[in-house]
Amino acid sequence: MPHPLEELRDAALREISDARDVRALEAARVKYLGRSGSISAWGEQMKTLGKDEKPIVGKLLNEVRSALTAAIEERTQAFRAQKEAGALANIDISLPGSTGPTGYSGYSGHSAASVGYSGYLPLERGSLHPLTQMLDRSIDIFRRMGFALADGPDVEDEWHCFDALNTPPEHPARNEQDTFYLPDGRLLRTHTSTVQIRAMQAAPPPMRVIAPGAAYRRDEVDAMHSAQFHQIEGLYVDETVSVGDLKGTLELFMRELFGPDTEVQFRPHYFPFTEPSLEIYVKSKALKRGEQWIEVAGCGMVHPAVFEAVNKARGDHAYDPEKWTGFAFGLGMDRLAMILFDIPDIRLFAQNDLRFLRQFA
Ligand code: PHE
Repeated sequence: MPHPLEELRDAALREISDARDVRALEAARVKYLGRSGSISAWGEQMKTLGKDEKPIVGKLLNEVRSALTAAIEERTQAFRAQKEAGALANIDISLPGSTGPTGYSGYSGHSAASVGYSGYLPLERGSLHPLTQMLDRSIDIFRRMGFALADGPDVEDEWHCFDALNTPPEHPARNEQDTFYLPDGRLLRTHTSTVQIRAMQAAPPPMRVIAPGAAYRRDEVDAMHSAQFHQIEGLYVDETVSVGDLKGTLELFMRELFGPDTEVQFRPHYFPFTEPSLEIYVKSKALKRGEQWIEVAGCGMVHPAVFEAVNKARGDHAYDPEKWTGFAFGLGMDRLAMILFDIPDIRLFAQNDLRFLRQFA
């Protein structure tokens, strides 16, 4: 005569194999193996059994428990395979892997299902964004001239962005129309010149750094203006730095970048933090827009008031304007990349359009 536990096992196995879906299977699992299921009840009952019966029933109970667990696991797998087969039924695995609009294959929806089964995933090779390429080339040129890299935050305070740069409270650049202010009074830096100040606060002269990064202005967005753009700031402070050094450095940079025939022009300008201040224009036959002078940078000799603001913050007189002179510049990276790659519209840099980006791969 079969033991009642064996009868229970057979009934349970039948129920498991009859289960039509995951839900019915789960119901069977709870009924037999759940905390208050029949098998668990037998476990409780063990305590009441005699010495000789205990090991026999205990062994049987273990066998039944693992038989049921295995059966449930097997059914679960079967349901899973069924579901996947159903999903795959709509997919023609002889087609090449699909590529989504982002260029990444198999990371979403339909194509995800095909990943494991087709065994073929045409992962596209990415390439550097034209602005990144431009940045790398520029950094490389300045490195060869002995410039080190400096860095500062995009979210700044007014002091680093304006006050320390000799920009008075009534200056239009500080206006809410021109600058993105945060509710707490901080702002998105309107230029990378903030890093001039941070670098000088951090170390005494001599100083020769460049600082690539983003800047933000509330400009009307058009083909030439974007609310976020990119600059490379430069700062060189030493005992005898002159306008000649400034011109030589930037002329060399432009020629390295655009070719030896590049013409460079310096036109007088005004910035509160440099004196004299200049704007740089380039023209080169090697470029598509060769016959045109294009403005690419602002620059000048560091204003003594900037040194004094830094000294005050440092609490020393490290940047003594009687002893040290310096030049600074801010290169418009988007502008430079547009010239170099003949790109007509600054907005293309941020649109992630692969038809555009692929041209620079
Ligand atoms: N910060 C200036 C701008 O964004 C450029 C500049 C940098 C000018 C350094 C002079 C010196 O327009």
